[in-house]
Amino acid sequence: MNKIIIASDHGGLELKNVIKDYLMQNGYSVSDIGTDSSESCDYPIYAKKLCQRIISNEFDKGILFCGTGLGMQICANKFKGIRAVCVSDTFSAKMSRQHNNSNVLTLGGRVIGTGTAKEIVDIWLNSEFLGGRHQKRIDMIEQL
Ligand code: RB5
Repeated sequence: MNKIIIASDHGGLELKNVIKDYLMQNGYSVSDIGTDSSESCDYPIYAKKLCQRIISNEFDKGILFCGTGLGMQICANKFKGIRAVCVSDTFSAKMSRQHNNSNVLTLGGRVIGTGTAKEIVDIWLNSEFLGGRHQKRIDMIEQL
C-alpha cells in the first residue's frame, strides 16, 4: 500500500511536516489528520484518530509524532491490533517490522534530527515482517 496516515501534536509538528514532504517526494499518498497548529494540544486525541483508521483497514501503517514519541506510543498501544513502536535508531526500526510487525511508528520531534528520522522512516517502511516463529508471538500478544 503506497499510502500512509500521519498525525502529531504541537511537539511533533515540525518533524511531521519534514517527513510529510519527504514521503510525498518519494511517491507516497499522505493523509495528514492534524494538528496543523503550533498551539498546545492533547496528543491522545490524534493517536486515537489515527489508530481507528488503521484498525478499520483504511490504512495499514501510520506515523505519530510528539515531543518524545513516548506519549503517542503509550496511547496507540491501548488499541487492540495496534503495535506501536517509539524508535530513535535504524536497527530498531528494522527489527520492529521484521520481528514485531509494527504498524505504527512514533517519533520524537524533540529527540531525533531530521536526517535520522528520514532514515528510520525509510527502513521502517521498506522492511517486511518475517512471519514464522514471530507470527506465533504476535498471536500471543493479541491474547494478552
Ligand atoms: C507536549 O509538551 C509533550 O508532552 C508531548 O509532545 C509528548 O512528548 C508526550 O509524550
